[in-house]
Amino acid sequence: MASLLFLCICLLALLTSGVRSDEQNARRRPIMLDRSGGFNVAGKIIQSPRNPNMTLSCDHGYMEYFIPWRPRKTSLVMWHSSSTQTWQNRFDGGEGFKDMFLRRDYPVYLWDAPRLGRANWACEPTTYVPDYRDQGNFVAWNFGPSYGNFWPDTQFPASNETAWQQTTSARYVEYDTVANIYLQANAAAVAADSYKIGDSIVYLTNSAAGLRAQLAVTLSNTTNTKAIVAYESFGYVFPDNLNITAGAPFGPTIVPLEQFKKLAKLPAIQYIFSDHRSENFTFLAQARLSAKIINMYGGNAKVFLLGEDAGLKGSTHIAFADMDNAKVADLLDEFLEENELDGYAGHRGGDWGDLEEQFGTK
Ligand SMILES: *[C@@H]1O[C@H](CO)[C@@H](O)[C@H](O)[C@H]1NC(C)=O
Ligand SMILES: *[C@@H]1O[C@H](CO)[C@@H](O)[C@H](O)[C@H]1NC(C)=O
Ligand SMILES: *[C@@H]1O[C@H](CO)[C@@H](O)[C@H](O)[C@H]1NC(C)=O
Ligand SMILES: *[C@@H]1O[C@H](CO)[C@@H](O)[C@H](O)[C@H]1NC(C)=O
Ligand SMILES: *[C@@H]1O[C@H](CO)[C@@H](O)[C@H](O)[C@H]1NC(C)=O
Repeated sequence: MASLLFLCICLLALLTSGVRSDEQNARRRPIMLDRSGGFNVAGKIIQSPRNPNMTLSCDHGYMEYFIPWRPRKTSLVMWHSSSTQTWQNRFDGGEGFKDMFLRRDYPVYLWDAPRLGRANWACEPTTYVPDYRDQGNFVAWNFGPSYGNFWPDTQFPASNETAWQQTTSARYVEYDTVANIYLQANAAAVAADSYKIGDSIVYLTNSAAGLRAQLAVTLSNTTNTKAIVAYESFGYVFPDNLNITAGAPFGPTIVPLEQFKKLAKLPAIQYIFSDHRSENFTFLAQARLSAKIINMYGGNAKVFLLGEDAGLKGSTHIAFADMDNAKVADLLDEFLEENELDGYAGHRGGDWGDLEEQFGTK
């Protein structure tokens, strides 16, 4: 009897450890790519005023892509405000959303909108004036209430000086002007309408990219874009029938009602806010208003609080690079599942799961 009980306990231990390592394996599966690369999209060709035979091809965006061996049908377009780097790694150099979602078989696209990053071949003169931004970054990214004072529960690796230096150095010049918001949103809309990123697109955005992604949806002529998941969107698009005053550089951006209604046609919009943001924080209040208006026109927009709704404490402005970004990724999984955006594109042999079965390692 005692030995039977012992056997049972052993079996149970074996089973539960099996379950746990299965989950870990799923998260640590090799990344199997069919292909990767990049391309320019949108932009224009301008002629020299001195010699019309001389031209410049400029103001395009740059899309880098990574396509899994057996891809799901939905493409994740990771749209940064400050730098693609935020999507590539966790703040301490650990795994970022790019690899996490490649392991989950989602095609991943890293987007540099016109004039940013690898798309900096502008049609107009641009200027960069060095400003003393490090201290402002610290507060804007919600690492703490004032420079050097981290929130006690922060998900930034506070004691890692290198991590701070890496993060504050990774920024690009943003060109936060109304003209650039339209330029960048339009290029993304052209990309979405080109089918080069598929016909089921989810924008993952951070900060001011949230405003641009909303505007891109209103400018697009297809239904290829299915959802926006905006991490702390700074700026919102509103319709022109509600007497909302336009502002700059972080909105409100006002568009004709008919165009605005395209946001209500998306299967889902999720505005995510981190901890340590009060309800009267301008952009959270605007997110609530935006969701309300989109839903008034039949849409499906929700505000999701990482603290209150998911129990994640100390998240930063860039929650997908936080130390607990695996939990933030699980929430995105749930969102994609709930909205039926997690399906596979069609069967393809040679999936890692099939290989594991074939070689009996499962
Ligand atoms: C532009 O090209 C055309 C056709 O080759 C040529 O006739 C013309 O002289 C060129 N103009 C200039 C300013 O070089
Ligand atoms: C600190 O952060 C840097 C850069 O993100 C990383 O390379 C390093 O491994 C981190 N150190 C620790 C102890 O996690
Ligand atoms: C959508 O169609 C309109 C009307 O043809 C056009 O002006 C606009 O440029 C198109 N948008 C995009 C993103 O191509
Ligand atoms: C529109 O808003 C402006 C300024 O916020 C206000 O002065 C005006 O009375 C409003 N108009 C209407 C029709 O509500
Ligand atoms: C938000 O409201 C609280 C309570 O009414 C107030 O103490 C706080 O100063 C407000 N914060 C902002 C950013 O307006």
